[in-house]
Amino acid sequence: MTSSTADVTASTTARGGVVRRFPADFLWGSATAAFQIEGAAWEDGRADSIWDAFARVPGAVVGGDDGSVATDHYHRYAADVELMAELGLGAYRFSTSWARICPDGGAPNRAGLDFYSRLVDALLEAGITPWLTLYHWDLPQTLEEQGGWTNRDVAQLFVDYALATHEALGDRVRHWTTLNEPWCSAFLGYAGGQHAPGRRDDSAALAALHHLLLAHGLGITALRERDADASLGITLNHSHFWPADPDSAADLDAVRRMDALQNRLFLDPIFRGSYPADALVDLADVWPDVVRDGDLATIAAPIDVLGVNYYTASVVTADGVRGGVSLGDVPSDVEDGGSGDAAAHTVRSPWVGARDVRVVDTAAARTAMDWEVHPDALRDLLVRIDTEYARPAGTALVVTENGAAYDDEPDSDGLVDDVERRDYVAAHLAAVHEAIQTGADVRGYFLWSLLDNFEWAFGYSKRFGIVRVDYDTLRRTPKGSALWYSSVARSGELGV
Ligand code: NOJ
Repeated sequence: MTSSTADVTASTTARGGVVRRFPADFLWGSATAAFQIEGAAWEDGRADSIWDAFARVPGAVVGGDDGSVATDHYHRYAADVELMAELGLGAYRFSTSWARICPDGGAPNRAGLDFYSRLVDALLEAGITPWLTLYHWDLPQTLEEQGGWTNRDVAQLFVDYALATHEALGDRVRHWTTLNEPWCSAFLGYAGGQHAPGRRDDSAALAALHHLLLAHGLGITALRERDADASLGITLNHSHFWPADPDSAADLDAVRRMDALQNRLFLDPIFRGSYPADALVDLADVWPDVVRDGDLATIAAPIDVLGVNYYTASVVTADGVRGGVSLGDVPSDVEDGGSGDAAAHTVRSPWVGARDVRVVDTAAARTAMDWEVHPDALRDLLVRIDTEYARPAGTALVVTENGAAYDDEPDSDGLVDDVERRDYVAAHLAAVHEAIQTGADVRGYFLWSLLDNFEWAFGYSKRFGIVRVDYDTLRRTPKGSALWYSSVARSGELGV
């Protein structure tokens, strides 16, 4: 990958607007994940993943939705690739399903690999660069029955799966991401219980976290040995926290703890080979005895790209709060695994070590996820991560997810004029541009998501797509935001 910021400009137009020019080689893409779009849940040898099993638990997913059909991308991938090409998108971030490639967590399944081979060929034929993520939350259910991510052996099985996938696709896929958002896998899956496998055990969540990071480090090491020229990385979900009262020591400490749990607990081991000392003190009561000699050096294997997923930021306080955070209080990517009936559903904070922190509502606009919109925090995060972690390690940044759910209202032809989504993306792209102007090495942007899809515990009730999916007919219709994003991607220019 190369990057030049010489041509990165922001100029004022005659009408007072600003035109921001991105680097000529900036990657413009969209993102999806296997479980959220593929469907064909038991076809061609695929077996249950933890999300298939979790979706069967009454009340776990809104409306009882599951991934059996999803957007039927498994059968419609060729048309979906054509759609991306028509929109002029240069890159596509997707994930492979572990449960399709290694149905019982062990031996690879040729038919599963063949699907991704066809997808990759279609992308390359359309001139779209594939960005592959190996783990976007769909662990084979057989492995969960052996303890899931709390079982250290799963990290080694991840390597086997990664190498089998690389063996089949490595000649054509040059960008490999080990994990997507291990924060969610560990904390929502094992502490909060909102995500599969739905466990609520703080020590288990921390064991899962360590084994996820170990899987990442082992995976990077094995892929690097196999393919020295590939671009390798991980995607983390970051957020920013402000104190409700900047003069309150308790609120500043709440910020420190949230930042540790959301950002540093991942960045420090990956870039510095150690867990943050303050977090280890905060978590001492629940920290499991799982870290073995050499693990942290493995986790700190050098990476070429850090993927940054960003959606929201929060003001937090510790004032007068003891134990428990309510649904509306849980920031950044945290999803209620609810029946939709808040009263009937107890939400347990996934914030191991910070359960006495409360998120304070601000006047900022909100998306349909109830997440506050704070574009400037993306700029500040990118600059901070670039300066403190990535640049010293020679690692580039890519925004691997950013986007928004809104309650789209299609007209009688199924067309959606989603001005709010367009404005959300424009404001965040402006923030990315500012970060680049400040000197951060940000190489690309993947909009979440190409298609409306299965939004985890919210099922199909939340729509993030720039392309509408009619779930009765599975018809795809580009929304206004898709046409707008297409013109930004084609021109490399953002007018705001
Ligand atoms: C992050 C996750 O990676 C993705 O799967 C999810 O749909 C989006 N956030 C929106 O919540």
